Formats: sequence, C-alpha cells, structure tokens
Amino acid sequence: MKVVGLMSGTSGDGVDAALVEIRRNKGGLRVAMLAAHALPYPRSLQQRIVAASVSGTVADVCHLNVLLGEWFANAALGVIRAAAVQLQDVDLIGSHGQTLHHLPQGIKDVKVGAIRSTLQIAEPAIIAERTGITTIANFRPRDIAAGGQGAPLTPAVHALLFRHRRRARLIVNLGGISNVTYLPKGSGYEGIVAFDTGPANMVLDGLMAWYSKGRMAMDRDGRLAAKGKVDSRLLAKLLAHPYLSQSPPKSTGREVFGAKMIDELTTMPQARQLTIEDLLATCSRWTAEAVGTVRRWITGGIDEVIVGGGGVRNRAIMQHLADVFAPTPVAPFESYGWDSKAFEAVAFAVLAYQTAMDQYGNIPSVTGAAHPALLGCIVPAGPGWIERLRRRAKK
Ligand SMILES: Nc1ncnc2c1ncn2[C@@H]1O[C@H](COP(=O)(O)OP(=O)(O)O)[C@@H](O)[C@H]1O
Ligand SMILES: [Mg+2]
Repeated sequence: MKVVGLMSGTSGDGVDAALVEIRRNKGGLRVAMLAAHALPYPRSLQQRIVAASVSGTVADVCHLNVLLGEWFANAALGVIRAAAVQLQDVDLIGSHGQTLHHLPQGIKDVKVGAIRSTLQIAEPAIIAERTGITTIANFRPRDIAAGGQGAPLTPAVHALLFRHRRRARLIVNLGGISNVTYLPKGSGYEGIVAFDTGPANMVLDGLMAWYSKGRMAMDRDGRLAAKGKVDSRLLAKLLAHPYLSQSPPKSTGREVFGAKMIDELTTMPQARQLTIEDLLATCSRWTAEAVGTVRRWITGGIDEVIVGGGGVRNRAIMQHLADVFAPTPVAPFESYGWDSKAFEAVAFAVLAYQTAMDQYGNIPSVTGAAHPALLGCIVPAGPGWIERLRRRAKK
C-alpha cells in the first residue's frame, strides 16, 4: 500500500509529510520511503497556533481546525507530487494533526473521576475531500479512552522498524518536546521503555523568541549555543525539574515547557547574569541530560543511540548527547536510511496502515492504557472505500 503520513508536533513549525510504500512480509512490515516534503508555516501562523494552544477562544480553535486541514491537505498533495505518484495510486493518509493541547495528568471532574485529554486539530474531512483519499486521524484519544496518556505512539513504529536481534537501541526524537524509545535486543514489544523526556527545541525556540522579541524562531544549527558555556548552577536547578524524575508512563507538552517555563527560566537568579549563548548552551545540555534519564528506567545497556526530529540539525544538542552517552555512538536517523525530520510523519503513515489492517497501534506498557487499541477516526474517501482497501491489502 502507498500511504501518506502527516505530522505537526508541539513546535508548530509546519507540516512534515512522508509518502511510504508498506508491504507485509513474514517477519513484520517493510516500509520504503518514496518522498518527504515539509510545508513550513509562516511565522505568523506559527504564532497563532502557539497562542491558540495556550489561550485560544473556541472560535480561534474552530477556525484553525479547518485552516490547518487545508495546510495538511496541501502537504499531502505536495509529497504525492514530489514522489511523482498519481493521486489515485495512494491508498491511505494517516494524519497526526497539529497538537494544540495535551493534559495527560488526570484532572478530577464531577462524578466521572480523573479526566485525561489531548487535542490535535487539522480537520481530516478537509484532507479527505481535497485529496480523495481515505484519511485516518485523531490517533491519541482511543488510547486515552483505554486508560492511557495517548502518548507516545511512535514507539510501536520504532519497534517495527528498528528493533535489532543483537543490538539494544535507543531512539531519540528531538521535537519541541523530546521523547525516547528503548528497544532492548530481541523482537516484539517485550521490554520496551518509552516516554517523553521533557525539554527540547520548545525551550530553545522560546529563549530565542524571548531574546529577539519574537523576530527569531530558532537558534539555527545551534550556532549561538555552540558559542556559549554550560552554567553548572543553572543546569543543576533545571535538572531538579520534577518532570524529569517522574516515573513513566509520562508525556508532556507546551503546558509544562512552553511560555511559563521561559518566564521562570529567564527570571531565575542563576540565569539573570548569563548571556543568550550561555542560556542556550545550558538548555541544550539540559535537553541531552533529560534524554539521559532513560537509563534510570531500563535494565539492559544501550549499544547505539539513533536521533531524529528537527533538533538533529542543532549541533549543540547533538554534541551534548554524544557527551552524555559516551562511549556509546550517537548518530542521526540518516545513518540508518531515514529522514530525521520526516520520520514522525512516516510513523503516522504506519499507524494508519495498522488500523486499516485491523492491527493495534499503541503499546499499553508505554502509554499506560489498560489494553491494546485500534487507533484513529476514519474519514472515508467515498463510495467503495472499504472494498478498495481490502483489495489493495490482499495484493
Ligand atoms: N537548522 C536547524 N537548527 C536548529 N534547530 C532546528 C533546525 N531545524 C529545525 N530545528 C528545530 O526543530 C524544531 C522542529 O522539529 P520537529 O521535529 O518538527 O518538532 P515538532 O515535532 O515539535 O514539530 C524547530 O522548532 C527548531 O527548533
Ligand atoms: Mg514540526
């Protein structure tokens, strides 16, 4: 099957799209990437998304849901064009949507007990309408309904594509938030430990926006961070953040590491004397050390660390990761034949495929769900969609 995956994470930097070809074989799935395409949001749209995710009105969210549906549809059309594949040859789209809010800690509510919730927008009806392709979206809520946090969901895909018989691997995704998947030697889902480790690009981007009064969105390539020095007093204070010592299952987002964090951070006595370079260097180190906390919750060793997400392009974070895990080698997804920026999009293509094939997508021990679940809501392309998918699945 040819499947498009669409993703936009907590950074709100734009839509990443991937077109993959998925085949089932004896051992599992074979996934080949046909094309990747990034559709960055203009800065003003990114700012609207970030603002809406903190204090948007219902009208803002209602409007953005459909507006982003158009952006996601364009990203899907863009990646299909980039692969020079005909629209009618694409079987399925898996859209993660744009994360707007994530409340994984149970909030007590009247008569129903603790409620966990998450909100991804980018209306899948628009994507299906514009492309004519059956679209699966809203993957997280079913896991939440089953008692989980709805996140992280990529570990099942990491297991399918990266698990190795003789090598224990740590997969790291440096998005707005960073998450890890530990894959011990072996196969299946046995022994996997995965969770959001906390700070990553969201903090660095937030510092840059604060420093430049909104003119700069990121520390490109980690150039400023590379010029700074890690401040051990500030680092110690940051490493004491309670999220880092919380045991998995855990997941987090802008609610914890967004604007509030930047306000706190920039007014800490340990931070006020520091230059922007030193602040960025210290927070890059914090990101890497937070990833390193995974060693508290795994029993075996790590033979290799494989890193994806936009943060791979930040040389300061990559250098700190290499220091934190030395002598274990740290390499980007590219060294394993995958595109760092597009991998999460690949993951949602695979998760859509799994749902279409009647396969569970979550790992209950990772999300905290009571049982494996079929993930997503399906928007059919049009009449005959089920027969078409069945026919394609049998081939
Ligand atoms: N050249 C670069 N240099 C430094 N950071 C980068 C670069 N390119 C992307 N990034 C960082 O990666 C982030 C986006 O990564 P991504 O994996 O898309 O995260 P998310 O899943 O949260 O959207 C950007 O916000 C930016 O901070
Ligand atoms: Mg992104």
